[in-house]
Amino acid sequence: MNKNLNPNKIAVIGAGGVGATTAYALMVQGVGSEIVLIDVNKDKAEGEAMDLRHGASFVNPVDIYAGDYEDLADAKLIIITAGAAQKPGETRLDLIKKNTGIFKNIVSSITEYNQDGILLVVTNPVDILTHLTYKLSGFPANRVIGSGTVLDSSRFRSLLSKNCGVAASNVHGYIIGEHGDSEVPVWSLTNIAGTKIENYCPICNKDCTDRDHSLEEISSQVKNAAYEIIEKKGATFYAVALAVSRIARAILRDENAVLTVSSLMEGYYGVEDISLSLPTLINSNGIERVLELPLAEKEEKAFKESAKHLKENFEKLEV
Ligand SMILES: NC(=O)c1ccc[n+]([C@@H]2O[C@H](COP(=O)([O-])OP(=O)(O)OC[C@H]3O[C@@H](n4cnc5c(N)ncnc54)[C@H](O)[C@@H]3O)[C@@H](O)[C@H]2O)c1
Repeated sequence: MNKNLNPNKIAVIGAGGVGATTAYALMVQGVGSEIVLIDVNKDKAEGEAMDLRHGASFVNPVDIYAGDYEDLADAKLIIITAGAAQKPGETRLDLIKKNTGIFKNIVSSITEYNQDGILLVVTNPVDILTHLTYKLSGFPANRVIGSGTVLDSSRFRSLLSKNCGVAASNVHGYIIGEHGDSEVPVWSLTNIAGTKIENYCPICNKDCTDRDHSLEEISSQVKNAAYEIIEKKGATFYAVALAVSRIARAILRDENAVLTVSSLMEGYYGVEDISLSLPTLINSNGIERVLELPLAEKEEKAFKESAKHLKENFEKLEV
């Protein structure tokens, strides 16, 4: 570990909707004491930094400014949100070509100044770009993380919370696999107040006439949430910013939190040499350990299919 890293410094590359909102979430939640925003559009980064800085008297002390790649030298965490975003009707995988080119430049600029920090990829398609960043950067796998399905798992918990009338903090469940169309809800491990969902339903007062249909509807809403939001407001940024801030907090505060981030698969469920999401212990080392939890047979099969689908797309890239 580079002794010159500032353990509370975060760089956000890309000061668009997701990058600027992430900086806001970090600031409001007191994650990091120095935040630098970098964007090809320097005025945008400058304007966002000024706007954020003007709220400094309402939050914990934090230094927020617009900078350049040399400002990455001592950053503990580098969050990449730069690149093209989905347009209505586009899938995340449609963005591959546009964002691969952008990432080749960004990753080489990062490694010129910083070889020891943790890279957190948010730009879509996040699993493909996390894997690309791992390959291009030469960083060890524990220091290349994608936001993966942390957002989807939060959407899942929040929809179940609403459906079942239980606070989201008492609803536990994971979405694994691709952050995208082949993602997999892990119903077999989903629980409310420590009780498996199939055991919780009979003791719940709510009368879900068709439980299986309600649950299927929830998975499908999670998978299609981004399409629906983009159709209605053009972009998504609040919930993803909170998800990224949650991952950043787990790293900066050395939490050993379990989050469904995307990272290099090293034989989990027989999958390797691609990056996608599984429940993972996160701390100041980045990825501490990927948890190979006992999945139902059909969940494991769907996870492997998701990995295969990503691998086929990654192999089409000329890296
Ligand atoms: N992983 C997730 O859960 C998740 C959720 C929402 C959005 N996203 C993704 O995040 C990305 C950003 O979305 P957005 O809504 O902020 O888009 P945006 O268009 O608002 O912002 C993108 C920013 O990147 C900057 N940029 C482009 N090329 C750059 C480069 N080479 N170096 C530095 N900056 C550069 C642009 O100037 C712009 O400010 C998209 O790929 C989107 O699909 C991911």
